Amino acid sequence: MPVTAVVGAQYGDEGKGRIVDFLAEDTDIVIRFQGGDNAGHTVVNQHGEFRLHLVPSGIFHSRVTCLIGAGTVINPAALLRELAELEAAGIDTSRLLLTNRAQMLLPHHRVLDAIEEEARGDHQIGTTSRGIGPAYRQKAARSGVRIGDLMHPEYLRARLELSLSSVNRTLSQFGSDPIEIDSLLAQCSDWADKLVGRIVDPIPLLRQALRNEKKILLEGQLGAMKDLDWGTYPFVTSSNPIAGFAAVGAGLPPQQITNVLGVAKAYQTSVGAGPFPGELTDSVGVRLRDIGREYGATTGRPRRTGWYDAVAVRHAAWLNGMTEIAVTKLDVLDTFREIKLCKAYRLPDGTCIEHVPDTHVLEQVEPVLECWEGWQQDTTSVRTWDNLPEAARCYLERLQELAGVPIRYVSVGAERRAMFKV
Ligand code: GDP
Ligand code: IMO
Ligand code: MG
Repeated sequence: MPVTAVVGAQYGDEGKGRIVDFLAEDTDIVIRFQGGDNAGHTVVNQHGEFRLHLVPSGIFHSRVTCLIGAGTVINPAALLRELAELEAAGIDTSRLLLTNRAQMLLPHHRVLDAIEEEARGDHQIGTTSRGIGPAYRQKAARSGVRIGDLMHPEYLRARLELSLSSVNRTLSQFGSDPIEIDSLLAQCSDWADKLVGRIVDPIPLLRQALRNEKKILLEGQLGAMKDLDWGTYPFVTSSNPIAGFAAVGAGLPPQQITNVLGVAKAYQTSVGAGPFPGELTDSVGVRLRDIGREYGATTGRPRRTGWYDAVAVRHAAWLNGMTEIAVTKLDVLDTFREIKLCKAYRLPDGTCIEHVPDTHVLEQVEPVLECWEGWQQDTTSVRTWDNLPEAARCYLERLQELAGVPIRYVSVGAERRAMFKV
């Protein structure tokens, strides 16, 4: 390993949290490199079941340092709530650090997310309404405030004055009350008291870690199909969940990333609007949702379901430079007599393509499906490749062939131990 990026190979919710929790056992540092509390990373282990939003999924291992990277947007109120929940469950959170350069996601970003989504009418993105888009927009416009600014109250006031002037103009256009700077500063002062010991410039720590050949995991949020540039724009998030951004978001030189582990479900789900070729709106889709418990870890929304889309995963494999894949939720397919996968897209004129086209074309494609025999056996206690039913091995070998990347891990349950290395 020394540095492995763990990224979503589909539309998010692939099981990145459970994979990071598993791999963190043998890791020194885990860094969340983008996104905010729109993430819902589920971890099930000896401590219980947790839905992490901002805290890296390595937090359950006492020797792991967890860092929230510069590429993220941090809602301090949400983070403090998450920390309180973890601490109430007996988890030591003292090893969680925040990068001073990470953006602050403030209460008005959530207000703006909700009113802007409403204003989109029939063209809604279906955001998580956590304020992600407005926070990244202010970052790009260079009017955001950063977590490190909490340590410098006078500087923070000046930055917030600048930031609020544009925010309040937008709020007034929508008929919403303006944000009062004094009450926001009072909130910031409370957050500063509670977070100050965690805010660091991570570069010295990371330099030292690389010098000492420490193992680092970079934890992505969402998946390639919701990448701001290469996903189903505009039905995407406002950051880049792909490995190219992992170095930027964490604060590492790109060539230090030695492995890129793509996480893919054995089928596919998506939350929110936008094209989703091969979506199953029939009883098969409902069965996948019921068996896979496919409800959003952050918003509780039912996830859209479909068969595994090899075209989308190949797109993700290329964009991420994946060196290996972890296939999760194989057990969800245990009772299916027949399993399908999408190996190409058919355009309205009948032509077949094997790449992901831009959104307006993707909206019109039909999946070209391939049928596989189901194994109809319980795989949840399987812990070696050889003990998998033969039909399951054939199916996985086909996924591997279509992705052009070796499968390194197979997960057959939500619990930490319910997976194995291939
Ligand atoms: P993430 O956002 O990529 O971390 O994924 P989520 O946590 O949002 O969604 C994955 C869901 O599948 C969670 O409920 C996990 O507990 C669950 N899960 C992960 N791996 C497996 C698996 O191999 N089998 C089953 N049955 N559930 C799994
Ligand atoms: P994890 O990390 C699934 C989706 C939303 C919406 C789009 C934009 O758990 O995989 P945003 O709130 O980011 O502006 O929403 O992205 N979305 C997710 N879908 N899992 C997530 O995170 C998601 N984070 C955002 O549903 O379509
Ligand atoms: Mg999730």
